[in-house]
Amino acid sequence: GAPVEVDISKIEPGMLLMVEWRGKVVWILDRTPEMLATLKKLDNQVTDPKSEKPQQPAYAQNETRSIKPAILVVEGVCTHLGCSPVYRKDIAPADLGADWLGGFFCPCHGSKFDLAGRVYKSVPAPTNLLVPPHMYLSDNLLLIG
Ligand code: FES
Repeated sequence: GAPVEVDISKIEPGMLLMVEWRGKVVWILDRTPEMLATLKKLDNQVTDPKSEKPQQPAYAQNETRSIKPAILVVEGVCTHLGCSPVYRKDIAPADLGADWLGGFFCPCHGSKFDLAGRVYKSVPAPTNLLVPPHMYLSDNLLLIG
């Protein structure tokens, strides 16, 4: 499939943009400073905090798993069996518990991912959400693929 250009100039803090690339959904999330601050708190609750497992590009191997700190670009595909997780930015909702600081929840078998797409321990999904190959052509123009 061809690479996809995405204009991210209209994305707002906390907003999730969805685009299609190679028949898959790719999420672009603009994280607020408060959202980014949750990541450090979750380092010991996620399986691969530094994205050291294979299949993750070098630019995902940092604290935010991103090129620009605020902007997360990940495939919206659960790494368990491929369901579509749901973006849940609410803090400590009744169904997800007091530890939930926002992230992505997969309704199929209950896998949880934080706001960097890092997988929680003790869920069926084996790895973090995949970061697709991407780069910035200019400040607001993202190229996926
Ligand atoms: Fe997401 Fe199984 S497909 S938890």
